[in-house]
Amino acid sequence: MKIERPRGTRDFLPDEMEKRRTIEKIMRRIAESYGYREILTPTFEHLELFTIKSGEGIIEEIYAFKDKGGRDLALRPELTAPVIRMFVNECVGMPKPLRFYYFANCFRYERPQKGRYREFWQFGVELIGSSSPLADAEVVSLAYRIMDELKIKFDLHVGHVGLLRHLLRDLDENVASKIMRLIDKKDVEGLEKYLDEVGVSSDLRDSIFSLVELVGDRDVIGSAKEIIPDFDFGHIEKLCDVLDALDVKYKLDFGIARGLDYYTGVVFEAYAKEGLGAQNQICGGGSYRLAHLFGGEDTPATGFALGFDRIAEICEVELERKKKVVVVSFRGLEGEAFKIANTLRDKAVVVTDVMERNIKKQLSYANDINADLAVIVGERELKEGKVAVKDLRSGEQKAVSLNELLDLI
Ligand code: HAM
Repeated sequence: MKIERPRGTRDFLPDEMEKRRTIEKIMRRIAESYGYREILTPTFEHLELFTIKSGEGIIEEIYAFKDKGGRDLALRPELTAPVIRMFVNECVGMPKPLRFYYFANCFRYERPQKGRYREFWQFGVELIGSSSPLADAEVVSLAYRIMDELKIKFDLHVGHVGLLRHLLRDLDENVASKIMRLIDKKDVEGLEKYLDEVGVSSDLRDSIFSLVELVGDRDVIGSAKEIIPDFDFGHIEKLCDVLDALDVKYKLDFGIARGLDYYTGVVFEAYAKEGLGAQNQICGGGSYRLAHLFGGEDTPATGFALGFDRIAEICEVELERKKKVVVVSFRGLEGEAFKIANTLRDKAVVVTDVMERNIKKQLSYANDINADLAVIVGERELKEGKVAVKDLRSGEQKAVSLNELLDLI
C-alpha cells in the first residue's frame, strides 16, 4: 500500500530545499543587520493562546487536538501570539525594545490551492515595546528591504485599522469583528448584506464604503480626514515621512482590515504582482497589543510575517555552487579513496562509491549526478603518491600529486 502525504502538505526535494535555504539565508542576513535575533517557540501551544484574540478566521482553521492528558492543544497557525506569550513568560526584564525574528512552519486547515497550504512557513519579525510610528517605519521598511533584495515585484499597501475601528466603535464587538473580516476578504456583497442585516445607519454605511475605497498616495489622508474628522492622523503622517525619506514605495490603503483580530494601529500587506494568481499576498503585518491578554503588562508591539512558500515560488535566486567531486576507486582501495575524499571536503562536495560498483559504473554515476571532477584512485598512481583527475566537462585526464589535487579544486 502506498501512503500519500496529507492534503495541503508538501515534500521538498534537494533542488527546492537548496533554493529555499538560499532565500532563508538572505532574509536572516537582512533581519540580523537591523539588530533582530532569532527565537523559536514550540510547534504546538495551548489552544487558548490562539482563541483569545486571533479572531474567528483563524479559529475556524486551527489544527486543534487533545493530548493524552486531555489538554486542548493546537498546532501554531502563526507566531505572533506565541512570541508574545514567550515575551511575557521569559523576557520581561530585558531592555526594550526587543527585536526578534523567526522562521518556522505554521498550520492552518485551509482549502489547499496554489500558494495556500495546510503546512506553510513564515519568516517574521516582532519589535516589542514601542508604540512610536518609528517602530512601524522600521518594521515596514525591513519587510520592504527583504522583498526588494529578493527582486520580487510587489505592491506594498499601508493602512491603519484604527480608522475602521473608530468608525465601528459603537457597534457590538462581535459585529465589528465580522465587518472587519468581510472587509479583509474584500467581500463587498457579503458586507452589504451583513450591514443590512445588523441595520447600521446609512451614514455609517457610506463612511465604511468610502473609507475602504481609499487607496492612493499621501493625498488620501485628506479624504480620510473628511470621513473621520476626529481621528488623529499624526501617527500615519510621521510614518509616511520616514517611509518617504527611505524611498520606500507604498500606497496608503485604509481598506486593509487584516484577518487577525489583534491589530490596533498601522497595518500593512504586500502583494506579488506576478506568478501567484489569487493567493498573491506575500506579507502581512502591523502593530498590535497582546501581552496584557497573556498575563503581562500592556505592551505595544509591531511586526510582520512573510509567506515564505509564496516567495520561494516566485523568487529567482542564484544558488551558491560548490564543485562536485566523485572519488572513484578500484577494489581494495576504498579506504584510500575515503581518506582522499576527506582531505578534499573543506573545499568541495565529495562523494565516494558505496555501491561496490566497477570503475566504469562509478564514472557513469559521476556523469549522472553532474559532477565536475572524478578523482580516480588506482594502485599504480598511488605508489607514486598520485591520483588521476578527470575533468568531466572536457574529458581531459591527468595524473597529479595529492597536493596538486587540493590546488585543483
Ligand atoms: P497572516 O497575514 O495571516 O499574518 O500571514 C502572513 C503571511 O503568511 C501571509 O501574507 C501569506 O503570505 C502567508 N500565509 C498565510 N496563510 C498561508 C497558507 N495557508 N499557505 C501559504 N502561505 C500562507 C500573520 O500570520 C501575522 N502573525 C503577521 C504578523 C506578525 N503581524 C504582526 N506580526
